[in-house]
Amino acid sequence: MMNQSIAYLDMQAYVGITKHIGGRAATDQLLAWCHVENARAVLCVGCGIGVSTAHIAKKYDCHVVGVDISDKMIAWARERARREGVESKIEFRTADIQDLPFETDRFDAVIVESVVAFVPDKARAIRECVRVTQPGSYVGLNESFLTQALPPELTEMLGRTLGGIELPRLETWQALWADSGLQDCGLQTYAIDARQEVRDRIQWIGVRWSLEAFARLFQLYLTSPEARASIREQYGSTANVLDKLEYVLLTGKKCA
Ligand SMILES: C[S@@+](CC[C@H](N)C(=O)[O-])C[C@H]1O[C@@H](n2cnc3c(N)ncnc32)[C@H](O)[C@@H]1O
Repeated sequence: MMNQSIAYLDMQAYVGITKHIGGRAATDQLLAWCHVENARAVLCVGCGIGVSTAHIAKKYDCHVVGVDISDKMIAWARERARREGVESKIEFRTADIQDLPFETDRFDAVIVESVVAFVPDKARAIRECVRVTQPGSYVGLNESFLTQALPPELTEMLGRTLGGIELPRLETWQALWADSGLQDCGLQTYAIDARQEVRDRIQWIGVRWSLEAFARLFQLYLTSPEARASIREQYGSTANVLDKLEYVLLTGKKCA
């Protein structure tokens, strides 16, 4: 599949696992703060394998649109919607958050979970989410931030596996949100319980899906020396990074 070190999101796309910190509880909080119960059309940007898109389609009486920059992620998200029996309520497209292929004011809620942190032009990504939101409706982000500096070797490894992107500090999110032009802005931070994160994710994704993903990861580990090195490096350092991460829920209403 790839012949050098494997980037973090490429590995997730291959294996069929994505996550955001805070799990289903954080998603439900974000959906409530964005008043998704009143929405007819909801956009999920950077939907990954489609866990939240399927969740929204099952929980609410609305049409859901899921977009992701990766075709592989979109394929997983379609498969998940099919398995959950909600494919008729969700439309998927490959798209970049920095250039969304939708008309202005189209959606009643825009939900973004653990995506903007990976995007080079964060202000443009947020502007695009606001643009496609209907006036009077909400944009909601769940994004992580570093609470302290990482050791140089971890910073170097993350820079490599995240394609030169640095994980933001809280001040970055505060400044971006202050410049978003949204009103009624909410910003709430949460600490992480790493073990709880893993348990929640397996529970939400489902044991069968998790085992299938683990089997793909294991096969990759066995068959590709490059993948083996990347898996060791990325999974070996996860605990050290999680230790210094928290997440923030950001919500705001587009001016009517
Ligand atoms: C950490 S995953 C989170 C996925 C999903 N929101 C979840 O919570 O499971 C980040 C996702 O953002 C997508 N992504 C990264 N850059 C993007 C961009 N510029 N536009 C749209 N999606 C992007 C990745 O392909 C990946 O699926």
